[in-house]
Amino acid sequence: MSRVVKLAVIPGDGIGREVVAQAERVLDAVTADGDVAFEKTRFSLGAGRYLETGDTLTDDDLAAIRSHDAILLGAVGGTPGDPRLKDANIERGMLLKLRFELDHYVNLRPSKLFAGAPGPLASPGEIDFVVVREGTEGPYVGNGGSIRKGTPHEIANETSVNTAFGIERVVRYAFELAGRRRNKLTLVHKTNVLVHSGAIWQRIVEQVASEHPDVVVDYLHVDAATIFLVTDPSRFDVIVTDNLFGDILTDLAGAVTGGIGLAASGNINPDGTFPSMFEPVHGSAPDIAGQEKADPTAAILSVALLLDHLGLRDEAARVQRAVEADIADRSTPRSTSEAGDAIIARLQ
Ligand code: NAI
Ligand code: MG
Repeated sequence: MSRVVKLAVIPGDGIGREVVAQAERVLDAVTADGDVAFEKTRFSLGAGRYLETGDTLTDDDLAAIRSHDAILLGAVGGTPGDPRLKDANIERGMLLKLRFELDHYVNLRPSKLFAGAPGPLASPGEIDFVVVREGTEGPYVGNGGSIRKGTPHEIANETSVNTAFGIERVVRYAFELAGRRRNKLTLVHKTNVLVHSGAIWQRIVEQVASEHPDVVVDYLHVDAATIFLVTDPSRFDVIVTDNLFGDILTDLAGAVTGGIGLAASGNINPDGTFPSMFEPVHGSAPDIAGQEKADPTAAILSVALLLDHLGLRDEAARVQRAVEADIADRSTPRSTSEAGDAIIARLQ
């Protein structure tokens, strides 16, 4: 073994555990004969952990996770409305905390309509684009507060934070990605209304564009982008956008490409200072948890993103091809582990 990758595995809650189990099997299978060893550490985090201990993400958890090379996450979250989780805020206390503390400034969500995947669009054409969502700024930083809470005079503010530094680094990443793909980049914002943050995003995109003359740059307001994602998704190659718009657009992107069971994502720290984290876009799905009904494909495609990020391009491509072949050939409903078996059987 010439290389050891320290992998932090956070199965999480509900179907997170079920899909991560299959994703790990695929990872093990595709790396079995190679010269890279994955040394895994399992972290128990999420709603289950909170209910047991009252912790979401402690400083010790964070320090331990930081010492790894990459993270594979299932999903966290209990049953919506569970009164015991009323004050837990796992989303902010764990997921967003990891993204911010590990400086995951690129939230990468590839959206591809695979042959044979059941999409909701009647004539979708070819869909193959990537959303590069800014991950550490925007309205999600917790820059706000409220006063006179619960009274008719309550005031609540949530201020979007946009820095030249933060925008430039994610925009550069998006241009480089477009350069490796089909040379098209679309900035999505709402510059007509959000004039201050819109102006800085637009200016920086124009500046970086001058260094990438091969990349064709396009701009859409976020509301128009939702129309084109449905009526003409083929027009997109790389979309770069802020944290909030990216959150919303990627759910829509997942929907037009065959649903939540197929959508993978990476929370990436491109400079490699901290481990990047790969996860299916979906949540813990309490409605089907424990029934082996979850589709593990999104988690398995997240393993492909993880392998690619680690420079294991060949292994990443093998996982991707196995998934595509599996999707093209699905027929009867399968359990979560049967789906894992089928994909493993197609790894070449
Ligand atoms: P969800 O994604 O868990 O489920 C939405 C719907 O999609 C459900 O009907 C579910 O059964 C279905 N679904 C999701 N993944 C599937 C899969 N792999 N195969 C087949 N069907 C699948 O979103 P929901 O219900 O809004 O949230 C449930 C919990 O998950 C909440 O506690 C929420 O906070 C958490 N959550 C966590 C995320 C994360 O860890 N990154 C992301 C989204 C939600
Ligand atoms: Mg979301």
